[in-house]
This record gives sequence, C-alpha cells and structure tokens, in this order.
Amino acid sequence: MGSWYRTLSLTAMAMVVAVAESNACRANAAAPSVTIKQGAIEGFAQNDTNVFLGIPFAETTAGENRWKAPQPVAAFPNGHFAATSYGPSCAQAMSGTAITNQSEDCLSLNIWTPRQAAGRGLPVFVYIYGGAMVTGGSSNAQWQGFNMARNDVIYVNFNYPFGGDKSRIVLGGHSSGGVHVDHYLWNHPETFLAGAIEMSANAQSGPAIAPSGVALKQVVQDMLDAGVSLDCTAENYSLDCLRAADTYAFQTTYFNSTTNTWFSPSIDEITRFSNYTERFQSGKYPTSLPLLVGNSDQEGAIFGYVYGSENTDFSSWIRTFDADLAFVPEAELIAAYNESDYPSVSQMSGASYGDARFLCATDAMLQLRAAQQPTWIYRWFGNYSNVLPIPNLGPSHGSEVPFFHGGKECFSLLEDVTTAEQQLADYMLSWFVAWIKNPQAGPGWAQASPTDGPLARVGVPEHEEEIVMSTTGAYNTRCQNVYLPNYPYYPEVQNPVLLAEEA
Ligand SMILES: *[C@@H]1O[C@H](CO)[C@@H](O)[C@H](O)[C@H]1NC(C)=O
Ligand SMILES: *[C@@H]1O[C@H](CO)[C@@H](O)[C@H](O)[C@H]1NC(C)=O
Ligand SMILES: *[C@@H]1O[C@H](CO)[C@@H](O)[C@H](O)[C@H]1NC(C)=O
Ligand SMILES: *[C@@H]1O[C@H](CO)[C@@H](O)[C@H](O)[C@H]1NC(C)=O
Ligand SMILES: *[C@@H]1O[C@H](CO)[C@@H](O)[C@H](O)[C@H]1NC(C)=O
Ligand SMILES: *[C@@H]1O[C@H](CO)[C@@H](O)[C@H](O)[C@H]1NC(C)=O
Ligand SMILES: *[C@@H]1O[C@H](CO)[C@@H](O)[C@H](O)[C@H]1NC(C)=O
Repeated sequence: MGSWYRTLSLTAMAMVVAVAESNACRANAAAPSVTIKQGAIEGFAQNDTNVFLGIPFAETTAGENRWKAPQPVAAFPNGHFAATSYGPSCAQAMSGTAITNQSEDCLSLNIWTPRQAAGRGLPVFVYIYGGAMVTGGSSNAQWQGFNMARNDVIYVNFNYPFGGDKSRIVLGGHSSGGVHVDHYLWNHPETFLAGAIEMSANAQSGPAIAPSGVALKQVVQDMLDAGVSLDCTAENYSLDCLRAADTYAFQTTYFNSTTNTWFSPSIDEITRFSNYTERFQSGKYPTSLPLLVGNSDQEGAIFGYVYGSENTDFSSWIRTFDADLAFVPEAELIAAYNESDYPSVSQMSGASYGDARFLCATDAMLQLRAAQQPTWIYRWFGNYSNVLPIPNLGPSHGSEVPFFHGGKECFSLLEDVTTAEQQLADYMLSWFVAWIKNPQAGPGWAQASPTDGPLARVGVPEHEEEIVMSTTGAYNTRCQNVYLPNYPYYPEVQNPVLLAEEA
C-alpha cells in the first residue's frame, strides 16, 4: 500500500503541478492540454472548469505486475493521451452503474482545475474515496471536482486497488479513504502536506484483519473446482503461479459472497502498526499538521441493512468477522446496548458497527491527538432520503460526501434534489474550501480537545446555513466508557473460516 502512495505522490504531483502551471497560458484554449515526460495530456473544458480524466499514474497491475509495487508509466503511445473519459475501476466483487467497468489497468487519476484563474500556487485537494478497501471508484458522480475548481482549488481523485505548488496540498478521504489518509500520516511523520481530512474513519476503523492466506487458499480451491487451469494447488500455491490466471477467475462465488473483505491488510509494523499510542508518544506522527475529522450522526444506520443476514441476534452478531468487535469484551457490549432504544435488533447491531468503525474510532484518535495536534471535529446531521441507496436512513454513513463536494454535478445521479439541498451543499463547500485553502486558520470554529471539547454540528435541519456548536462530550459517552479503554487491543486478527464454522 505504501508503495502506490509513493508512486502516486511522485507521478501525480508532478502532473498536477504541470497541469496547474499550464493553465495561465492555456485558459482560452478550447481543449486544455499539458505536456509531461510521458507526452501530451489533452483534457476538455466543461462549464467553468478544465477537466482531465483517466490519466494513468502507474502501469497496469495485471499479470506479471499483479501484487507488486506499481511500475512507472511508460511514454504515451504516439506521445499523446486523451484525458476525456474516466479510466476503468479496479477489479472488485461488485458491479453496478455508480462506477466505470473493472480492469486491472486501473491506476489512474482525475484532475479538475479552474478555467480562468492563474494556475500557479493554487491549493490542491487530493480525495480518496471510501469502499471498505474492496470496492469503489474515482468515477462516482458524488465525488467530482467541479465545485472545488470553481472555487480555485485544484481537485484530484484517483483509483486504488486492494488495500493500500507541494506546500499547499491537502489530502482527504471518506471511510476507507479516511483510513488511507490516517495510515499515510502514521507513515510520514515528516509529511509535506498542508492539512489532512479524515471523514468518518481512521487507522482504528478496520477493515477486520484475517490471518494472511486464509481467503486466497479458499479462492484458489474454488477456481480449481470451477475448472480454471493452474499449475499449483490450493495447499501449495505461489503468487507467481496465480499471476498466470485471469483476474476475473478470482471472482468466485465465495469471493463475491464475502465481497472479498476477507482479503484484508496485515499489521506488518511497516505500513500498519499495532500501537498508535506508542508511535504518537515517540514522535512518529506529524503532530503539528492541521487535521479535520468528523462523522455522520447515524453512521451505523446503513450497516443495519448491509449486514441484515447476520445481525438479527446481537450476541451472535458481535462474534462475526464482519462486526470486527472481538477487541471489546462481549459482556461490555451486551450491557452497552439496549434493544428498547432501537426499532430493531438489526438497527442496534448497525449502531454497534457505526460506533466501532467510525464514531468511537474518531473519538479514540481525538483523545490521543487533540491535546497536541490542531484538530477540528464536525458531526453531520443532514437528513435527506435521496442520497443513499436505501431511503430513510437519516444522516448515515456517506450521506455527507456529495454535500462536502458542493452538490451540482455531484448530485447529478440523485433524484428529486431540492433547492434546500443545493443551498446546504453551497454552504458546506464554502467552509470546506476555505479550510483547504488555509488549514492553519481552522474551519471557523474552535479547536477540539480530548474528552469534551468543541464540536461543530453541520447540516442541522432548519439550521442548514450555520454551524451549530456543541461538544464531543454530548455524544461520546458510550465511546469513552466502552470503546476507548479497549482500542489499544484493536485489531484482533480473526479467522473468518473458523468463525463461520462455529456460527
Ligand atoms: C454546465 O453547462 C451546461 C451546458 O451549458 C448547463 O446546462 C449546466 O447547467 C451547467 N452546470 C452548471 C453546474 O453550471
Ligand atoms: C462476481 O462478481 C463479479 C462482479 O460483479 C462478476 O463479474 C462475476 O461474474 C461474479 N462471479 C460469480 C461466480 O458470480
Ligand atoms: C461495461 O460493461 C457492460 C457489460 O459488459 C457493457 O455493456 C458496457 O458497455 C460497459 N461500459 C463501458 C463504459 O465500457
Ligand atoms: C510446493 O510447490 C513447490 C514448487 O512450487 C515445490 O518445490 C514444493 O515441493 C511443493 N511443496 C509441497 C509440500 O508439495
Ligand atoms: C502501547 O504503548 C504504550 C506506550 O508505550 C503502552 O503504555 C501500552 O501498554 C501499549 N499498549 C499495548 C496494548 O501494548
Ligand atoms: C432498557 O431500557 C428500558 C426502557 O428504558 C428499561 O426499562 C430497561 O431496564 C433497560 N434494560 C437494561 C438491561 O438496562
Ligand atoms: C429524518 O427525517 C424523517 C422525516 O423526513 C424523520 O422521520 C426521521 O426521524 C429523521 N431522522 C433523523 C435521524 O433525524
């Protein structure tokens, strides 16, 4: 994982700076273009932005390149790259219309720049989408850069596979994107970033960690059973042997049924660490970097549905691989949730997921960092039924993302968008962009502190165009009592095959 970051930061930042600097002289050209070492990149103008889509930042990850550090991009064929459509999404156990079709040749990025502004010296916002590290893509309409570019911020997003002017770059992401941002920080105590944004999730959010090889062995067996020709067995495979197989052969029924979440990262003490307190205390973390964190108020509501087939009995739910709650003693979990507080046990289970993965992970890292690091925390209350794939989820996980991106084009695939929603998106974009341009100055509310400090409520119904101040203490009782004492024991490596057999 660390390696594609390095590739991304070197290649992509060279591209971004080249694209930004070219702007001033090409602002009136019909099709914006910029030349880098690999050749000329031709984008297109849309409304008041210049757009460059699908620019490769590394070679394909197929065949010989599979499961290896990304290879540098070769010169473009004929010295020319048409950056006019999104690149393929990375191979994953999901399909659908939200993102482009899959391919292993997926390491590409998209850039939006303002059409008219002088390009030099603009701030850059690099956004990493979420998707539990197993799904998602940079082409999703909800996270595009039109509105950022309109406000003189160069916006970059990019595809990544399983996983894993420079002085004004802010790196941000939502959900697993936020996890990647956090791991980036824990890996770069001397970062060049100007700020970081972790929406909903951080290094203690997951995904659940399985012993390495467990899932792949099962998939290799499934492939052999399905008649895929391989020169190795499930008991004794090598990565070289598996590089010969087509990537879609790995998408077996088993792989799809677990949405490949059993292929999880590992704690190697190189890219991921077992003790963040120790790392923080020994100075292996950029403590002075301005950091914006936050959550949606009902993070877990959507997961009550996502895990509906295994979460109707709370005491068995908390033992599943998907719940990833083994770091908290069962008795403490059972005592902490009361069925009478939820419409269903599934919703209660969803709430535990929202706490463990998102709300309490944010609270625990705030507890560790906010005494030293300039940190600001928001909590999202926007309650709109047309944003998430299931209606009436309230302000659940992911419902804030297109609002932070300013709506408009980012609302283009939603139905019945109201004027009030666009007004809220305009307001969210205004403070968010102001922060990206000047992270040191803060987003307009007071800095967070451990245990019980200032928290900004955003998207509050009937107060859409204001920040409504509250405190972390008003929301973090269960996090502080039940989860905080146990996060030092996160993650607990669990074997999903054995857990499934026990269930
Ligand atoms: C972009 O331009 C198109 C075509 O001119 C127009 O219909 C659309 O409203 C514009 N979108 C925005 C967000 O300005
Ligand atoms: C698994 O899911 C992928 C992506 O949706 C699909 O292309 C593939 O056919 C599925 N495999 C099986 C065995 O159903
Ligand atoms: C994606 O795949 C589907 C099914 O194979 C195909 O019909 C569609 O044209 C593809 N879309 C793109 C943009 O390639
Ligand atoms: C596993 O495969 C390797 C070759 O890939 C072979 O050298 C080795 O003997 C095999 N081990 C077993 C236990 O079959
Ligand atoms: C993590 O490191 C801290 C500081 O060195 C130490 O006090 C704590 O016991 C460690 N936690 C675990 C779970 O080992
Ligand atoms: C759950 O909440 C109900 C209603 O407030 C209360 O009567 C009950 O005692 C609670 N149960 C537990 C185990 O605390
Ligand atoms: C969201 O709004 C609906 C009505 O539109 C309401 O029933 C529901 O209680 C609200 N949810 C939250 C969490 O505020």
